[in-house]
Amino acid sequence: MFSVKKQSFYDQKEEVLLIGLYDRPLKFEGELAKLDEAMDGQLTELVKEGDISAKLGETAVIPVLGRIPVKRLLFIGLGKEKEADFHELKEAIGTAAQKMNKIKLSSAAVALDSFVCEAIEYDEAAQAFTEAYGLASYQFKGYKQPSNEPEQWIEQITVYTEADLEEVKAALHVGYVLSQGTNSARTLANTPANLMTAADLAEHAKQLADKYGFEIEILEKEDMEKLGMGALLAVNKGSVAPPKMITLKYQPREEWEDVLGFVGKGITFDTGGYSLKPKDGLVGMKIDMGGAAAVLGAMEIIGELKPDQNIVAVIPSTDNMINGEALKPDDVITSMSGKTIEVLNTDAEGRLVLADAMTYAKHHKADYLIDVATLTGGVIVALGTDKTGAITNNEKFLEKVVEASKEAGEFVWQLPLTEKDKKRIRNSKIADLNNSPGREGHAIMGGGFIGEFAEETPWVHLDIAGTADTNKAGALGPAGATGVMARTLALLAMRTTEE
Ligand code: BES
Ligand code: ZN
Ligand code: ZN
Repeated sequence: MFSVKKQSFYDQKEEVLLIGLYDRPLKFEGELAKLDEAMDGQLTELVKEGDISAKLGETAVIPVLGRIPVKRLLFIGLGKEKEADFHELKEAIGTAAQKMNKIKLSSAAVALDSFVCEAIEYDEAAQAFTEAYGLASYQFKGYKQPSNEPEQWIEQITVYTEADLEEVKAALHVGYVLSQGTNSARTLANTPANLMTAADLAEHAKQLADKYGFEIEILEKEDMEKLGMGALLAVNKGSVAPPKMITLKYQPREEWEDVLGFVGKGITFDTGGYSLKPKDGLVGMKIDMGGAAAVLGAMEIIGELKPDQNIVAVIPSTDNMINGEALKPDDVITSMSGKTIEVLNTDAEGRLVLADAMTYAKHHKADYLIDVATLTGGVIVALGTDKTGAITNNEKFLEKVVEASKEAGEFVWQLPLTEKDKKRIRNSKIADLNNSPGREGHAIMGGGFIGEFAEETPWVHLDIAGTADTNKAGALGPAGATGVMARTLALLAMRTTEE
């Protein structure tokens, strides 16, 4: 779909030519000057009069009326050159991409060099373009009967540049792969729970394993019983759908050491169990496997980009339902680690399934653990819907995760976990832990509970309850699942965890 050419866009015949315009003293140069000339200086005029704006995210479609071979120009404002920023650039390109998709074209050209400035290098501009284009063009197909309106998507996008072709090509590929992995995570999480069971998640993981040569292991209920995964099994008790513990291994190195562990909450639907959610709280709970989706999206990116980093990904999956056998408040269960848990709230099920998944990731020799989970409503109260909450037992490891999140453009903010907090989690008359110490700071209680199973292993918890989905369409995608943390995890893997 994307190709690169080291030549002028001037003579090209695409249906649209995308040009970025920074807010700086206007001077069309090189090929752009030639364009302006062919149009009798009209472009300069249009900029002066404000019909073409350099304001961040503003688009202008200019028909060229046969003056040049390309059919129309699409200008996208990139804001002040001095304030240029990679993530803002992606947002602007996302806006332009949606505009292009709306005009319904089959081919497009991109004047890549117009996106380059002092702060944005060629490779950054290239990655920003494919990443933003891929994210912005995402659609969840849904299940409506086909309409009569013909679909038109851009089939061919040609990127024109003066820069080194190989470098640009590589960056275009990275951006594309990041967007596709994120979009796969979005689709997994957007799929309704009746069509996305634990078995469906396992099937998706299997397809990734086949495609990328990952080692895969799917534990069935009987296997879990043998291993003593009492926490995951307890959550599954009220369900008719079998649970799965999904493990993927990626080993680019000779030795299975320095292993990065990803753990993703895979609750395919969360009713709350006997601590039933109110009816309005039930709607949208298909998102409760958003952590699993992020991990699988990251594994897809990793399969494509092949970083030199051993990785084990573990996904505990079941729904959280009610029947005559279901888990009840007051029940005491025994996790795989041996730690016993007094269940005070069956709606705090995420930390239960993650407890066994953390232990199992350690069993697979994970040296670093990062869990991703739609864990608590509390994190939404604390941080809103645009920030992922983090908790750690190792500040250095968190720093690396935060760096990766910044590179991905995904906001992560740390919440504290104190010794006093841990006391509340360990406060039970009849068990080692309790799964719901009360409303106060409950995002911290949730994360802290999972930390009990990390023990001494460096660990970061990412609570994506607020960020896994959005009710507002934006420049980089529609409303619905966001695929958040797929890119952060993948970019973390691209950096090595070794000192
Ligand atoms: N899956 C929910 C958390 C959630 C809330 C995800 C909103 C996405 C959007 C989780 O299992 C849950 O129910 N948490 C409870 C914990 C409480 C019972 C301690 C919560 O946050 O209310
Ligand atoms: Zn719950
Ligand atoms: Zn849940």
